[in-house]
Amino acid sequence: MSLLIKNGIIVTASDIYNGDIYIEKGRISEIGLELLKDADKIVDAKGMYIIPGGVDVHTHFNLDVGIARANDDFYTGTIAAACGGTTTIVDHMGFGPKNCNLKHQVDVYHKYADNNAVIDYSFHGVIQHIDENILEEMKSIVEDEGISSFKAYLTYDYKIEDEDMVKIFKRLNELDSITTVHCENHGSIKYLREKFTKEGLKSPKYHCLSRPEEAEGEAVNRMINIAKIAGDSPLYVVHLSTKLGLDYIKMARGRGEKVYAETCPQYLILNEEKYELDNNEGLKYIMSPPLRKSYNCNELWRGINEGYIQTIATDHCPFSFSKDKQLGKDDFTKCPNGAPGVEERIPLIFSEGVMKEKISINKFVEVCATNPAKIFGLYPKKGTIQVGSDGDLVIIDPNREKVLSANNLHSNVDYTAYEGIKVKGYPIMTISNGEIIYDKGKFIGKKGRGKFIKRDKVNLI
Ligand code: URP
Ligand code: ZN
Ligand code: ZN
Repeated sequence: MSLLIKNGIIVTASDIYNGDIYIEKGRISEIGLELLKDADKIVDAKGMYIIPGGVDVHTHFNLDVGIARANDDFYTGTIAAACGGTTTIVDHMGFGPKNCNLKHQVDVYHKYADNNAVIDYSFHGVIQHIDENILEEMKSIVEDEGISSFKAYLTYDYKIEDEDMVKIFKRLNELDSITTVHCENHGSIKYLREKFTKEGLKSPKYHCLSRPEEAEGEAVNRMINIAKIAGDSPLYVVHLSTKLGLDYIKMARGRGEKVYAETCPQYLILNEEKYELDNNEGLKYIMSPPLRKSYNCNELWRGINEGYIQTIATDHCPFSFSKDKQLGKDDFTKCPNGAPGVEERIPLIFSEGVMKEKISINKFVEVCATNPAKIFGLYPKKGTIQVGSDGDLVIIDPNREKVLSANNLHSNVDYTAYEGIKVKGYPIMTISNGEIIYDKGKFIGKKGRGKFIKRDKVNLI
């Protein structure tokens, strides 16, 4: 099977040029001007941008949080991803039974994803506790399973204490792997949640008030220092939402420390006013960390431009508004945390970022595809357009406009956090391993065609 894409504007993290791309047996085999090739299929991309398929390194398909389960599984979630221009996801596995080993969740997640996913995928390991066995087992997870990153949470049920964080950073550094951390200060959040609920202050805005900016800032700074104490180990901060956290990251990177940061469209585009919406619509935005005051959005865009934030992922974690989110209607602490976004990421960042001139088109490719692939051991198979890379490409029509709505998106959930936002520039075709899987608004790929990718050790940028 071969595919020739002609006359496109090819965009990578460093270049923009006109050309044709020839894909054979799933891989890019030639790039050039006016290629003369016999191909099974020819696509004319005149006037369109061709970017590397998006790489979303933060999704939660099938996530079971006890009171509810994320509404997208690996089939519906990856369809939504593909329709939004993402061709690879790295999913954060949920917690397993207390005291389970690391392999337990790897096996569970293979069962979830294999024969279901429609695009290529990987998982981040999840750390629930630390002992000698877990530290030892990390080696086989990285080297045999091809999972070269793990997430530790500083809050929620399986929060990791500082002493164990030192051990995690040290061990994963030895294994050329990377520690990703959910940075929020647990003690202060617990105090504020209890105080508000005792006072009867239980509406969605108290979710936000119980997780102040300082709770993120403190935890980011603590992890920066602990990673340093643990022998200059790399730290990847997931879903950064505040200027305060960013300021600590700037200082650490200024000192030459290996600190990386991810933010998400919700922290760039939305703000905490959403918690005050009528009809309890604020429940839709109960996520951790919460939406912030809008000055943070501007600072995060600046952080992207200046290179302090390397990736934009989604933290896609869809709970239905009509049922799941209603668990929190009388008490925000009972509401499952998370919001959808895997399909909206590329259109939103293209429209809000590139079209509104907040970031260049090369930066857009860098943070949405190239850097995530590099940091998480997928590059150059994924995240760029070059000979030998997988034939994962997205064609964006810069003039296509769309008003985002749950009705015209593909996630298996009844709302979008971006309802009514008009975007300009939209993916019109998604190609995965040389196969067109999304065309003219329709998903046309097959269930289970996506493959698990064993990732390399980390490639720090
Ligand atoms: O609220 C969120 N973000 N839910 C998903 C779990 C996490 O912390 O990433
Ligand atoms: Zn998190
Ligand atoms: Zn998450």
